[in-house]
Amino acid sequence: MLGTRRRRGGQPSSDLFATDDGRRLVLQVGCGPPDDQATLFRDFRRPEWREVRLDIDPGCDPDVVASITDMTPVPTDAVDAVFSHHNIEHVFAHEVPLVFGEFLRVLRPGGEVVIATPDLQSVARAIAAGRLEERLYTGPAGDIAALDVVYGFRAEIASGREYMAHRTGFTVRTLTRRLSQAGFVALRVGVHEFALWANGRKPIPGGPR
Ligand SMILES: C[S@@+](CC[C@H](N)C(=O)[O-])C[C@H]1O[C@@H](n2cnc3c(N)ncnc32)[C@H](O)[C@@H]1O
Repeated sequence: MLGTRRRRGGQPSSDLFATDDGRRLVLQVGCGPPDDQATLFRDFRRPEWREVRLDIDPGCDPDVVASITDMTPVPTDAVDAVFSHHNIEHVFAHEVPLVFGEFLRVLRPGGEVVIATPDLQSVARAIAAGRLEERLYTGPAGDIAALDVVYGFRAEIASGREYMAHRTGFTVRTLTRRLSQAGFVALRVGVHEFALWANGRKPIPGGPR
């Protein structure tokens, strides 16, 4: 999809963030393996959007190889949206402000962040009911239990990808607070099938907060 804009030798090509074709840019962070936009939020699959993919794992063949804690290869104010689908739970709690600071930095003023991450409150209800290893739901990777949601997908971690372990987690209240502390506005955080879905915007200078 990105054609000649793809990175070469591990570095993003200089026109990766160009918007001369009139399309808006969505940066999918922690994108995982190429999947023909299957995990991309439906709004960003429309033709007016162009996806740039970022992951810490070069094996995912992303456009940008970087950690969400330091997205230096992505210029400031460069993208119209950041999409993070089951990714922020892979960093330590003390790194979350760094991550949200990076999301805010790379967004243009008025740009949108969309985040999906496990909802520890609904998973905790399942654990309290004694359902730790039973199937909670079936995802693209297979059956997922509460144990996988809290600590990371066991099959991935057992295969040697220890960075797939989960290191932190959120509830509606804590995710809202962290995003607000980072400076995002117009926040909405809801729950859908054991996941939190959060949406917010980078403020426009002089605009509503
Ligand atoms: C559970 S997978 C989700 C992949 C895809 N977003 C999806 O929903 O199918 C988590 C992804 O986050 C990536 N990841 C883990 N830690 C990361 C970090 N610190 N920075 C960037 N990506 C990271 C992993 O390499 C992996 O591709």
